[in-house]
Amino acid sequence: MHDDVEKVLIDEDVIEKRLDVLAECILEEFCGRKFVVVVILKGALVFTADLLRRMPIPLEIECINVASYHGATESSGQVDFLDAKLPPVGGRSVLLIDDILDTGRTLAAVGQKLREQGAEMIKSCVLLCKDKERAAEVEADHVGFHIGDEFVVGYGLDFRGLYRNLPFVGVLKEKIIRNPP
Ligand code: XMP
Repeated sequence: MHDDVEKVLIDEDVIEKRLDVLAECILEEFCGRKFVVVVILKGALVFTADLLRRMPIPLEIECINVASYHGATESSGQVDFLDAKLPPVGGRSVLLIDDILDTGRTLAAVGQKLREQGAEMIKSCVLLCKDKERAAEVEADHVGFHIGDEFVVGYGLDFRGLYRNLPFVGVLKEKIIRNPP
């Protein structure tokens, strides 16, 4: 699997250290307030598991399943909600976690849905933020790393369902994208 990777963008040690700081900042932001974490599946799974273990406070975890890439390396432009029911966030403070902020459509669409569900306050956190113009007007409150506009995998992020279990964030070889395994 590692052979399919052209370059490592962010290695394991760097992610570990950054997560320590990120967790501290989020705890400060919520400042003793009880909150529910809403994880956007599946990409934010690995990041969230590591981040929340650095936050030894009472919190609940809910998941929301959306899709916008459909096996490609560019957003389809449409965010599909795959669950029959949305997380019960009415009147609650929410920490919304995603793997990456790219076009912004996902974070904007999920944030909107949670507000419609009556969430009292929503703060967002992403592992990665692509520095580019967004299709939807949204930014994350907490960002792990800013990266350029290239397709990345690993640490939860996939290409056609694979590579989520790589311990680092990297870029795939062009030939893998052209001829997927
Ligand atoms: P948007 O464009 O809605 O993107 O901000 C958010 C969702 O799209 C997926 N995404 C990626 N997945 N490598 C991936 O593996 C990428 O470079 C990438 N960019 C966006 C991801 O699921 C994210 O939640």
